[in-house]
Amino acid sequence: MLFLIFHLLLVSSLGSASFFSPDTNVSRVDVSHLTRTLSFPPNEKLVVLHKLADEFVLLGGRNRVYNVSISSMNEMNRYEWSSSEEARNNCASISQNPAMCENYIRTYFELTNDTFILCGTHGLQPTCAEFKKGNTKPARLISAVGMSPIDADSTSPFIRSNDNIITVNVAELSSSEPLLIRRNVIKMWKGIENDVILRTPRGLSSFEQANFLSMHKVKKEVLFFFSESPMETEGCGLHKVARVGRVCEDDPGGRLSYSKEWSSYEKARIECSIEENDTDTFYFNQFAGVAESPSSFYGAFRSQLAGIGASAICKYSKKQISKSFSGGFKENLSDSPDSCARANDLEELSKLRLRPLIKQKISSNPIYIFHGKDRFVHVLAQEDTRDLNNRAFDILYVGTNLGNVLKIVVSNSDSTSNVTGRHAVTLKVLPSNSKIVDMSFYSKNGLEELVVVTEQSILKMPTATCHLATNCAECLAHGDPHCAWADGIECIDIRTDQRKTASHDSGTCDVVSFENHKPVVLAPLKNKESSKVPVCLCETDKLRKPCATEVIQKEIVLSGSSEPWKYITVFAVGVLTGSIFNYCYFYFSRSLGGKTVSSSRSSSSMTRPITTSSSTRLPIDAFTTSSIADEMFSSTLSSNANRFNTVSMHSSIRTYC
Ligand SMILES: *[C@@H]1O[C@H](CO)[C@@H](O)[C@H](O)[C@H]1NC(C)=O
Ligand SMILES: *[C@@H]1O[C@H](CO)[C@@H](O)[C@H](O)[C@H]1NC(C)=O
Ligand SMILES: *[C@@H]1O[C@H](CO)[C@@H](O)[C@H](O)[C@H]1NC(C)=O
Ligand SMILES: *[C@@H]1O[C@H](CO)[C@@H](O)[C@H](O)[C@H]1NC(C)=O
Ligand SMILES: *[C@@H]1O[C@H](CO)[C@@H](O)[C@H](O)[C@H]1NC(C)=O
Ligand SMILES: *[C@@H]1O[C@H](CO)[C@@H](O)[C@H](O)[C@H]1NC(C)=O
Repeated sequence: MLFLIFHLLLVSSLGSASFFSPDTNVSRVDVSHLTRTLSFPPNEKLVVLHKLADEFVLLGGRNRVYNVSISSMNEMNRYEWSSSEEARNNCASISQNPAMCENYIRTYFELTNDTFILCGTHGLQPTCAEFKKGNTKPARLISAVGMSPIDADSTSPFIRSNDNIITVNVAELSSSEPLLIRRNVIKMWKGIENDVILRTPRGLSSFEQANFLSMHKVKKEVLFFFSESPMETEGCGLHKVARVGRVCEDDPGGRLSYSKEWSSYEKARIECSIEENDTDTFYFNQFAGVAESPSSFYGAFRSQLAGIGASAICKYSKKQISKSFSGGFKENLSDSPDSCARANDLEELSKLRLRPLIKQKISSNPIYIFHGKDRFVHVLAQEDTRDLNNRAFDILYVGTNLGNVLKIVVSNSDSTSNVTGRHAVTLKVLPSNSKIVDMSFYSKNGLEELVVVTEQSILKMPTATCHLATNCAECLAHGDPHCAWADGIECIDIRTDQRKTASHDSGTCDVVSFENHKPVVLAPLKNKESSKVPVCLCETDKLRKPCATEVIQKEIVLSGSSEPWKYITVFAVGVLTGSIFNYCYFYFSRSLGGKTVSSSRSSSSMTRPITTSSSTRLPIDAFTTSSIADEMFSSTLSSNANRFNTVSMHSSIRTYC
């Protein structure tokens, strides 16, 4: 019932929008046999502390830090640091849960080439420790409020900015209010008295029950994403709203008594919604993850409505975000692009402290909506991937709660309003309900692999599984720009195999092995659609057995004119036209290439079936193609049934030879 309501809502909301993408038939590929995994003890609660030159990753866990080589997926070395006896005793008197008294290591800062600082929860008493590379035990400890959260379960993103660490977390037992803090680690380590800390004001609720996702540096600004309880004025029955917060990396602090507070902290509402009239707007308000690409952020969202498995991806340009934030200040810096506007006078700062939320929302419509059992939990973006035709795409890898990674291909158009995503493949990798902590790329010889970190493991998996496709349609049907069909026999990954014969055009799916074949052009079929379609037959070696070639002709007659339908029509006819055309083209080009042994023209021309040379494959890909169209057809039909009256489909199968 709920589902029905949701569908109706979607249908009415989307109107003719073209991003409605039925992906019931996207292939699911189990890649566990192509995956390399390194597992750690349970309850490790791993976080990624640092990536060294794309080759090593430091994972912070329980009383330990692991240095893992990504290429070999082996642990290179580890560092050990448990809570001190004193901290444990203190902790035990406060907390019933002994697990909280362990030391979960959460922050990393490189001090010199061979020393670094780690900070951890240290039994509810955040502490930092200095390590020398290669020495497993800490050299010196310093208690350090704000440098690590007290609670290992909440995400506390951090970044390094010159000598500082900027981080946000719940740092004190006495208050559940998160601190957004900038701390000079070098000065802190040298024990310099006026180690200047910049922080959000005490007691002013800069955050409302916030959960943080990630932190990013964009020019001079530091942006961080989180969700929190809405302000009263933001009602709409939402439990949580998505936010982006921002400070200036070089914020000098406020004047006078505000000198230890940010003078640049603002936050804004981020919306990912299907907009209709106010009351009908459908919000994807649960913020699951953020991916950064050079020009934009991609947000992964879910809907809060129970029982509705709907997730969405929205895209936000970095420019748009920065512009919204600088608009809130009097200071006019619009002529210097690298600047970061902040409150310059006391009056402005006092207002900002009380109300960091700016009026302007940062809104976007989904570029991709998913409905299925999976719910989005993490996302990673790869900008500007090129296919063989030099078309640009952004590719998103979306981790779900069921342990799948969905590969979503986004057309890379300039206008943010006109970008749509398409689901290319589902890669099954992890057990259900693994908490994905981090996703990143590992690149070797031009081929990226995906590195996924969960709370107790790290694994490496392929970003494409082209070679597992057993036929042309499977290879090309879902438009993965990494995959191409080559030589009429195999699906290749274009990043590692640069064959000239490779093509993304599903029209080439008819093309098979061409040895001993020559094309013959026949009169066009007697069909109104086919006048422009060249139809070709070919001769074959007399020794071979004659057999049938089948071509499918498909027509979809529509009444009612809505965009998705046009799209389907074009799709079905386009594939056909393309396949016949390419078929001829390939025959010609092959025979002109001179490699083939030409056979004599016999009047009883026999045609080899349009199958693959190995003849283990199914007869013809046109069938597969048409069944895809059927499926798109039926799945679209089921959700749009009430909008269209007459839809019919005619298929005719012609046999040649
Ligand atoms: C396509 O999806 C439909 C319904 O979702 C299913 O019945 C059918 O088996 C699927 N076809 C393939 C080839 O997966
Ligand atoms: C640190 O490493 C860099 C390059 O790897 C080198 O140039 C520099 O001299 C090193 N510094 C120290 C103190 O060893
Ligand atoms: C991690 O291991 C690599 C290879 O042994 C080493 O070069 C690097 O310094 C190690 N990093 C740390 C922090 O120990
Ligand atoms: C908004 O509501 C009005 C009246 O209910 C309706 O006429 C209009 O078409 C709606 N707008 C959209 C975009 O659906
Ligand atoms: C900011 O400066 C630009 C040019 O320097 C000017 O065009 C714009 O009107 C100014 N905006 C405000 C709000 O003063
Ligand atoms: C989206 O792009 C298509 C063609 O690429 C164009 O016809 C359409 O008007 C665009 N829509 C918007 C909202 O820009």
